[in-house]
Amino acid sequence: MPIQSVIEYPNPILRNLSEPVESINDSCLKLILDLKDTMFSFPGCVGLAANQIGSKERVAVVDVSSKIEGSELRVLINPRILHQSKHKILREGCLSIQNLTANVKRAEQVEIEYMDVSGEIIKYQAQGLEAICIQHEIDHLDGNLFIDHVISAKTDIFRRKRYLH
Ligand code: NI
Repeated sequence: MPIQSVIEYPNPILRNLSEPVESINDSCLKLILDLKDTMFSFPGCVGLAANQIGSKERVAVVDVSSKIEGSELRVLINPRILHQSKHKILREGCLSIQNLTANVKRAEQVEIEYMDVSGEIIKYQAQGLEAICIQHEIDHLDGNLFIDHVISAKTDIFRRKRYLH
């Protein structure tokens, strides 16, 4: 059952702080497969975090290759942001909050450190859509949602006219 159902707001699971992965064992590898399969089951989806499918492990997948040429899928295990650049405001959405989008302030570039599936520690500089997506997924792993960043609910939250699926 690789495609999992996506947990939706306001389910409190989305507010859980994830727990660092100690070792990349069979259950972690299964989680990674589930995350990929579930993300790919939603056309246009660019990232998914483990707590969105009910896991506490600090794992997320990010894939902007359908929108940015030359980019590739990244499996982020225990990711953390080392540095971030100046911020800019962009419209954002989330599979766990399908009826809303919002203007969110994010860094245009981030330097992150994470472990890949082979257990190697990677330092990576991301920019543009990929950087925003990485910040959004790390937020999920910290129990945060994009709507938390909204300054004014009156002017910065929008009801979606068209659903993602
Ligand atoms: Ni999301």
